[in-house]
Order: sequence, then structure tokens, then C-alpha cells
Amino acid sequence: MDGHSRRRIARLYQGSLQRGYVLGKLASDPVYAAVAARVDGSPLPLLDIGCGIGLLGHYLHAQGHDRPYLGLDHDPRKIAAGQRAVQRAGLDAVMRLHQADAADLPSLQGHVALLDVLHYLPAARQPVLLRDAARHLSPQGWLILRNVLREANWRFHATRVEEFFLRASGWIPGGAQHYPSADEVRAPLEQAGLEVRIEPLRGRTPFNSYLVVARHRR
Ligand SMILES: C[S@@+](CC[C@H](N)C(=O)[O-])C[C@H]1O[C@@H](n2cnc3c(N)ncnc32)[C@H](O)[C@@H]1O
Repeated sequence: MDGHSRRRIARLYQGSLQRGYVLGKLASDPVYAAVAARVDGSPLPLLDIGCGIGLLGHYLHAQGHDRPYLGLDHDPRKIAAGQRAVQRAGLDAVMRLHQADAADLPSLQGHVALLDVLHYLPAARQPVLLRDAARHLSPQGWLILRNVLREANWRFHATRVEEFFLRASGWIPGGAQHYPSADEVRAPLEQAGLEVRIEPLRGRTPFNSYLVVARHRR
């Protein structure tokens, strides 16, 4: 994404702190481009679980994707900031954001994104959410998930330090609950009939992040 589009999206948000966060995130995090690459050319709607302030929807729209986007997040402040940005962009017809817990997914079927959300749920809820996400996939839909995975390496420890500061800052109340292993992500998805691929996706960060893409077996 070019600098002009990044600045245009950042201006949709309020305050220099949030605008700075948006600019930095869009410039440095490869995850939105990874989602765009999967859903490119597909007319299916996209359900973004734990959408935060809705950046994925703006990224996709700026890249020319005009499929319906529905983001949900349980944090009312993020949803309010995201809804304001959607209105300012005049994108109410294609982008909707609403406040809900991930346990309460709408009936939409299509592609599903779950970016950096899973570890905020307790261990017992994670396979339930993964199976729910699988149920929201259309036959042609992609589940695109990014998460830090539990591994014995320095990247995993760097992630835990970052999460400590995120929680202390109040950006993510409650903080991380359980970092899943690769097998803990893979097993419920395979049981739901999906084929699953897991690969590192770290960009320029020190964090132990992986991209998981899954779809119905052909
Ligand atoms: C690190 S942010 C990622 C935001 C967004 N997915 C992105 O990549 O730009 C994690 C988000 O998950 C949300 N979240 C955590 N637990 C949730 C739950 N149980 N239900 C809905 N949203 C949740 C948080 O409020 C936060 O906005």
C-alpha cells in the first residue's frame, strides 16, 4: 500500500496517537496484504473476528476489494473509533462494524479473518472459536488467522514482554490468556474438515507470529 493511501486511512481516525498507530501498522505489518492475497478476486463477504478499529476493512477497500466486510470486536471503544472511520470514509454500504463477543458470531458465511485474537481467549474457548470460525466459511471461503504460537524460542519470549506492556497500557484489557501451540490451532480446524497450512509471518517484528490459512478439503 502506498504512503498516500496510508495517510488517507490514518486521517479517518481521531487524535495523533491513533493516527500514528494506524500509519505505523499499515506501513510495517504484512498481515493485511496476506489476507488481501487470499481473498483477491473473490466476491464473498469477509467476517473479521476481533477486528479492533477495522483496519483490515479499510486496507482491503483501498486495494480495490469491494466485497462486504463485517467486523466484530468486544471492545466498545475500538468499535466506536472504527464506526466513526467508516462513516468518515463514506463506506457504510460495504463496511459494518459491531460490538460483540467472539462467542456470538453473526450468521454470515464467506471468508473469515482472525488476526492476533486467539491468545486473548482462555485455552478452553480457543478450539470452540476455531470450530465456529470454520462453520462460517463458504465452500470457497478462506480462514486466515495470524497468531503468536507457543514455542521455546527467543521470539516467543519477546512476544510475552510486548503483551505485558500492551496490557499495562490498557490497549488490550485482560491481556493474553493462553498462547496456543501449532497443534492446538491445527487440530480443531482439521476436525472441522479443513486443510490447514501454517507458515511464519513476522514482518519486521521480533514476535513469534504465524499465518494459518485453511479451507474446506477439495
Ligand atoms: C491485537 S488486536 C487485533 C485487531 C485486529 N484483528 C487487527 O489485526 O488489526 C486484538 C483484538 O481482539 C479483540 N478481542 C479479544 N478478545 C475478544 C473476544 N472474546 N471477542 C471479541 N473480540 C475480542 C480485542 O478487543 C482487540 O481489538
